[in-house]
Amino acid sequence: MTPSFSRAAPPKTGAVVVPVFQDEVFSDAASAYDEALGGALTRAAKAAGFIGKSGSQADVFGVDGGAPHIVLLGLGKRADFDLAAAEALGGRAVARVGSTEAKALAILADDVEIDGEVAADIAARIALGARLRAYRFDKYHTTGEAAEKPSLAKIAVHGASATAAKSRYADLDAIADGVFLTRDLVSEPANVLYPESFAERCKELASLGLEVEVLGEAQMKKLGMGSLLSVGTGSVRESKLVVMKWMGGKKTQKPVCFVGKGVCFDTGGISLKPAANMEDMKWDMGGAGSVTGAMAAIAGRKAKANVIGVIGLVENMPDGAATRPGDVVTSMSGQTIEILNTDAEGRLVLADALWYAQEKFKPAVIVDLATLTGAILVALAHEYAGLFSNHDELAGHLTEAGASVGEKLWRMPLDKTHDEAIKSPIADMKNIGGRWAGSSTAAAFLKRFIKEGGAAWAHLDIAGMAWAESESPTCPKGGSGFGVRLLDAYVRKFAE
Ligand code: BES
Ligand code: MN
Ligand code: ZN
Repeated sequence: MTPSFSRAAPPKTGAVVVPVFQDEVFSDAASAYDEALGGALTRAAKAAGFIGKSGSQADVFGVDGGAPHIVLLGLGKRADFDLAAAEALGGRAVARVGSTEAKALAILADDVEIDGEVAADIAARIALGARLRAYRFDKYHTTGEAAEKPSLAKIAVHGASATAAKSRYADLDAIADGVFLTRDLVSEPANVLYPESFAERCKELASLGLEVEVLGEAQMKKLGMGSLLSVGTGSVRESKLVVMKWMGGKKTQKPVCFVGKGVCFDTGGISLKPAANMEDMKWDMGGAGSVTGAMAAIAGRKAKANVIGVIGLVENMPDGAATRPGDVVTSMSGQTIEILNTDAEGRLVLADALWYAQEKFKPAVIVDLATLTGAILVALAHEYAGLFSNHDELAGHLTEAGASVGEKLWRMPLDKTHDEAIKSPIADMKNIGGRWAGSSTAAAFLKRFIKEGGAAWAHLDIAGMAWAESESPTCPKGGSGFGVRLLDAYVRKFAE
């Protein structure tokens, strides 16, 4: 549902959301509306003890001359308001009105500059937040209440800056499309989304102008990708490698490569995971999902940059043909790996995907995303993705890009000791470290597949971020789409 922008007065039907700053009853938009309604909102706020505190709200029903449902939404102090708060406002409005029978939602945007942000940008971000929160993954509900389609069918942001807001919003809508694609991919069960069907969905992105190429097992075998291929040998599903190219920049500009872990289901393989919560491993393709969504966003808004997405798609299953603990495989880089735990499979996929991306595309920058370790959840929970890098400037750029869109990164250590932890007595390395610093030893493994003197590299461990266990203002429970906005913002700020 793409929100619209309007200069008209608030409608007399549906629901109208009136944002209110704390202790300044009312903000400009609210005051004008209140006056038009003869002070009814002031009276209602007083009666409800509503003073605009952050997170607070008051419902006003049946005001003469107003919409049947008016919601006063508290924004907190004006000094704390920023674009992230604008998105949260849009999201909260949808959350409140979405649970009613209203068909239309109008949000009144202030027409003043707030803390240097112009009204049009604020209105656009309110719309983005609203759209992001209105996402649903309900295709498998066929009976009962959950199967009913939501009544909310129209979202409009009202304000004098409507025309400018609409043009500011255009790119954001393409980004939201990318986020939704990722959420869809992450939410799909593994009997529906497996390497081949995932690759098919990537091919559909050709309609956005992306050049999409899919490699199968025979081609990967020829390339020597013994590491990636070892993960899928126990699966009846064929492994795939998908390349998505967006060459919107200058011919001479070296590309940025995004590489994603796409384990469509991770049982652990012969090193089988316990049954409890194993269903979560349907979203072990979250890194590949984010890369795919980001490529859709970047192509959708026609970014002036050369960006290439490479995703390794496999299914990790136990089987007579599965890789055994102790097996030694040879990666595309020529380095050999002793696989001591078949559940440390993401790094095996990335090893060959990273090498392929560097050999083939000679990128200036390479960023991989992966739901790589449970250990990153122990360290950072659901607040931050872990950031590992061999390049301080790139680490800074990614952190800044993430912060600008509310996708936070925390830099984690990557030292010689972590590299020493993966020495193997029989091969060039083993695929697990010791008991401690599991996220860092995983990163040290990946670093061995980054060419010396080549691309600036960063690895984002998004195991704590790909799935939202609880809702937030701009995201319902389920696949979060984390990473799409971050990668898009990185390209916009540092590669265009
Ligand atoms: N996909 C998991 C990591 C994971 C755990 C993602 C929880 C999301 C939520 C990964 O393949 C894995 O199994 N990692 C092991 C590594 C260990 C065997 C060295 C882990 O974290 O336990
Ligand atoms: Mn695993
Ligand atoms: Zn995994």
